[in-house]
Amino acid sequence: MPEHQRWAELRSWGPAGIEDGPSPLANVGRTPYMTEADGAPVEYAPFGLRPFSGADLVAGPVGAARESWWTFDSASAKESSLRLTFADPLSGLRTDLYYEVVPGTDVLLRWTELTNTGDTAIRLERFDSAGFCVPVDTARLSFLSGQWAQEFQLQQLVLPAGRFEIGSQQGVAGQGYSPWLAVQDDSAPDGPTWGFSLAWPGSWRIDADIELSGSCRVRVGRQPHESAVLLEPGASLETPQVAAAYSVDGLGGLARAWHSYERQISRGGRRVLYNSWEATEFAVDAAGQLELAKVAADLGAELFVVDDGWFVGRHDDTGGLGDWTPDPAKFPQGFGSFVEDVRALGLEFGLWVEPESISPKSRLYAEHPDWVYHLDGREPTLIRNQLLLDLGREDVFGFVLSTLDGLLTEYPIRYLKWDMNRPPTERGRPGGGAPESLDLDGAHARNYLRVLDHLRTAHPDVAIEGCAGGGARVELATIARTDVVWPSDNTAPLDRLSIQYGFLHAHAPHVMSSWVTDAPGMFDPRPRSLRFRFVLAMAGALGIGADIRSWTGEQRAEAAQYVAQYKELREFLHSASVTMIGTPADPTFALQYTGPDQVVVLAWNTGPLDGTPALSARRPRIRLSGLDPSARYGAYSGAHLMSAGLPVDWESVDADVIVLERS
Ligand code: DGJ
Repeated sequence: MPEHQRWAELRSWGPAGIEDGPSPLANVGRTPYMTEADGAPVEYAPFGLRPFSGADLVAGPVGAARESWWTFDSASAKESSLRLTFADPLSGLRTDLYYEVVPGTDVLLRWTELTNTGDTAIRLERFDSAGFCVPVDTARLSFLSGQWAQEFQLQQLVLPAGRFEIGSQQGVAGQGYSPWLAVQDDSAPDGPTWGFSLAWPGSWRIDADIELSGSCRVRVGRQPHESAVLLEPGASLETPQVAAAYSVDGLGGLARAWHSYERQISRGGRRVLYNSWEATEFAVDAAGQLELAKVAADLGAELFVVDDGWFVGRHDDTGGLGDWTPDPAKFPQGFGSFVEDVRALGLEFGLWVEPESISPKSRLYAEHPDWVYHLDGREPTLIRNQLLLDLGREDVFGFVLSTLDGLLTEYPIRYLKWDMNRPPTERGRPGGGAPESLDLDGAHARNYLRVLDHLRTAHPDVAIEGCAGGGARVELATIARTDVVWPSDNTAPLDRLSIQYGFLHAHAPHVMSSWVTDAPGMFDPRPRSLRFRFVLAMAGALGIGADIRSWTGEQRAEAAQYVAQYKELREFLHSASVTMIGTPADPTFALQYTGPDQVVVLAWNTGPLDGTPALSARRPRIRLSGLDPSARYGAYSGAHLMSAGLPVDWESVDADVIVLERS
């Protein structure tokens, strides 16, 4: 804290011992025509105090200036946490900055609490969770972007000056960008790497600004729907947590930091599931589902999930949502009896729901038209023929909670796939008060998390899959309350390889739901084998989503072998340290899973091979890392595997699982 105590400064951020030397962030120059704060590595600053270079908080009493100033009030520190308090006596705004180190990981959590101690409402126009100064000379930014069916594409750019911004206004993390960013020095892409990941299931924003001093400042936080939130006298607002990670080992090391963190916060997928969506879509009926379940059980699946289409009025995407009663025409012997038939095959039972959505044709909509987001005098926009419930309302929250409790109590359901297939439009609550006093996005997100928390407590044996029209709900708050998340509706092999590659930079294998399907490629249509598809799903939490009724006996026998192999390896694959070798753009891409006694390599041939088999050529090799050079791993020494590489044979197969026991 500088002597003037008007703000806190970051001294250093890196491995233990980095603080032992002059601060790499200290601005030793002048800040001509600016304020001192504009050039300083300020931890968190209000607009006013830091007027020109970007502030983390833009707040002021309603009707007054949106500039504010504060001074340090107090601090409290515990073993792994810190709170810094700043107070603005004029506006009455008290700001608590929170820091928490997550033991056993390289992750620090930060968030902010804003309290109005005055007697006038304060308008919060910007209230980031945290701001971070990153001591790079030229920033190289890595981020994940895409669209539906093409989520998690890893992108990089160099930002010599100016601002970079990503975000979502979709009320979910979104398919467009992940709330995740990595920053490195352009000159050292394999060196120090700083990462940021926001735990918030609503709209969000991440900015990276090049500061006057040349360093990179990252600001992470919510994006309120109404563009501002009112903080009434006596009220407090807590921002979501942003997790910040550090690695000395480039993006790969940073990915491992995220994997360790997510292993602490999420249980992960523990059962091989079969999901019927791609096989039957809305044409669900007991006989067809049971036919699939029988084959799934033979293949070694442990769980059978009925996806969309099981409830009344749901014959296509135009109806049904909101009326969560099993369709008696589809389950003539009763849904309970159908579930028992599935369980009699030795499979647990899982069900798809989309609790926040509502079809205009539903009974629920006829009874509660006011439960959806809407604006007086405006026609509602339909997306996928549906509307969105205003989950921030307590009555809607109660409805969702009792619907899910009801289903989970009435039937022995052990898996819930929670989907959400439309972002909010006409987002209003007529009669609810002034828009800025509603914070609709905040209220929706908080009640979504409340429902998930309730499910965890009331139904601890039920595993949950987080999904939103593919991969739009992948962020740390959802990951902490679910078992797996669905990265994308694109399950085509080469497309999926690229999606999983990006996903694994930010998230752990055990939370990555991945199905083997029959899907042809959408973006890369080159055919790949069943083996390729299975090895791809083994990289995460393996599931099957193909129409297995049409698989031949030979295909089924082959599939059963992969499922058995996955079951043997899954504990290891979900706990080992992961190294990505190459990229899916290379002819050979591999993931190395390293544990103390074993190394498992999952490898894929994406296409072209120089020379082989027509011309003389050497075997493709995968250079492993992090091994003991003098130890033996299967038929090889560690030195051989790290220097010459592990040979693979792409003449007869296009993917492989290579298990190397250390001796
Ligand atoms: C979108 C999901 O991403 C799919 O997996 C599937 O559940 C459909 N919704 C069902 O409508």
